[in-house]
Amino acid sequence: MVVLVLSEVAATELNLEESFTTHAGIAHTRWATHGVPAPRNSHPQTSGSGNDFLVVHNGVITNYEVLKETLVRHGFTFESETDTEVIPKLAKFVFDKANEEGDQTVTFSQVVLEVMRHLEGAYALIFKSRHYPNELIACKRGSPLLLGVKELNDDVCNGSAFHDAKFLSKNGNPKELFLSSDANAIIEHTKKVLVIEDGEVVHLKEGGVSILKFNNDKGRNGDSLSARPASVQRALSILEMEVEQINKGKYKHYMQKEIHEQPESLTTTMRGRLLRGGSCKAKTVLLGGLKDHLKTIRRSRRIVFIGCGTSYNAALAARPILEELSGVPVTMEIASDLLDRQGPIYREDTAVFVSQSGETADTLLALEYTLENGALCVGITNTVGSVIARNTHCGVHINAGCEIGVASTKAYTSQIVVMAMLALAIGGDTISKQERREAIIDGLFDLPNKIREVLKLDQEMKDLAKLLIAEQSLLVFGRGYNYATALEGALKVKEVALMHSEGILAGEMKHGPLALVDENLPIVVIATHDACFSKQQSVIQQLRARKGRLIVMCSKGDAASVCPGGGCRVIEVPQVEDCLQPVVNIVPFQLLAYHLTVLRGYNVDQPRNLAKSVTTQ
Ligand code: G6P
Repeated sequence: MVVLVLSEVAATELNLEESFTTHAGIAHTRWATHGVPAPRNSHPQTSGSGNDFLVVHNGVITNYEVLKETLVRHGFTFESETDTEVIPKLAKFVFDKANEEGDQTVTFSQVVLEVMRHLEGAYALIFKSRHYPNELIACKRGSPLLLGVKELNDDVCNGSAFHDAKFLSKNGNPKELFLSSDANAIIEHTKKVLVIEDGEVVHLKEGGVSILKFNNDKGRNGDSLSARPASVQRALSILEMEVEQINKGKYKHYMQKEIHEQPESLTTTMRGRLLRGGSCKAKTVLLGGLKDHLKTIRRSRRIVFIGCGTSYNAALAARPILEELSGVPVTMEIASDLLDRQGPIYREDTAVFVSQSGETADTLLALEYTLENGALCVGITNTVGSVIARNTHCGVHINAGCEIGVASTKAYTSQIVVMAMLALAIGGDTISKQERREAIIDGLFDLPNKIREVLKLDQEMKDLAKLLIAEQSLLVFGRGYNYATALEGALKVKEVALMHSEGILAGEMKHGPLALVDENLPIVVIATHDACFSKQQSVIQQLRARKGRLIVMCSKGDAASVCPGGGCRVIEVPQVEDCLQPVVNIVPFQLLAYHLTVLRGYNVDQPRNLAKSVTTQ
């Protein structure tokens, strides 16, 4: 049985008093790629009046225009601006053609297999049809898809093998089956899932499931309807998440909860990975998922960090310590830009893919590209079983716990910590760097306490938010370890508070940004104590000389030296080892962005036009 849920988008258009007798249903929350958010563009998209075929789709069909032209030539009319609409119409075309040719026995899976053969791009699809009542077909290529299995009244199938067409509970209990592109949507119903792979077709019928592997070859007659796809058997996996993780607890918003749970999420990230004392008394880092590949990584010609959004910023924050401890050059790539340029990747490179979700389309495509070019691929994700976790050669899970707020907070700090541990692991045990390594490890142990301390700035950040509530723009200047903090701090303000905000490399100040400085535009300068401190002091002086409206973030006790004579607003944060300082420094920005958003009356957890996991290109 599949639970019927009504589409959020279409709900207003439907008569919710209507009762449904069906036990197989589909629903969808749409991220607008083609066509504005509107009922006509909502899913399910249909094959036309009569609803012969209905489809929900996560992804983008890149050849939809060609398919549309062909279908229009065959008499189909289109009502939406979506790429998806070609899919149900193509299904109807295939079905009608088979019937016209006298094949009254064409099965639902055969129709879908034939449709898949014509689709290009990325998709996870669920089909429903009046010709096949109470059946659903799902398939995927590129976009994520999970099958959740729940046996009502019983939990007997824990860890059991999943057999083609015979998912029968041992005691005959009724079942609920769920198809979803995100684990969060099904976790409150079941933790037992099967991760559907590219090219697979899942057929649900009267509580039974069969999975076929789509083979792109044509059948003997050049017709894939006669092809015989192989059936698939795989073990169920158990999702490592709890329903409580997707509750807000005592907080008003997920973002607020996730900011405040960072002392705990960081503790979990480090658990079992930092070793202090023991027989050899050495302080070391143990990253189980990497141990067999460390030698290769150390011998790499370069390390390339690849990611998008906040994950890219986290990698940028970790870059200096990785360079320092490993001696290997580290370059940065935004996933989409690497693909646009088809930038050079070599067999001697180690590519590190950083992604909270492990499913971001651009990062996945960059991974495919990098694998083709023969580099060693390392995954750093927060999602066990995600495509990046599965398709990289090795990796580390950040274990930050489920992150629901669209704006990433706790995943960012856990990502930096994992990459600092990665730097320690790759750096090995050279005597000359031992003291530095041990100081970082001590700093890591103490980091959750420092985060507890910096979280006490909550009220101060709320007051600052009140002051900035009506501003149009905010600049954030940082450098060295905290260039990433400037970018990420500005990103937080931009994405949730919907205020223009820009992170600026302070070393570039004289080459343009200085022109913006006046007594009105608020500017945050990050000047915590590290090797760049005196340079930042000079930046502050130059900004003050131009009457800049400054807010300075500095280490505790440094207020007088960053702002001699007063006149700027100061945010004092606890000082930690320089490479860990970005983990502390981002927290006031997260709090500021949160409060600004609430005060400005915007949606904190689901900012306008943004999505948590961008699985389309
Ligand atoms: C989206 C999210 C961001 C996230 C980015 C990369 O834009 O809104 O919060 O940083 O995707 O996502 P990933 O899951 O790959 O880290």
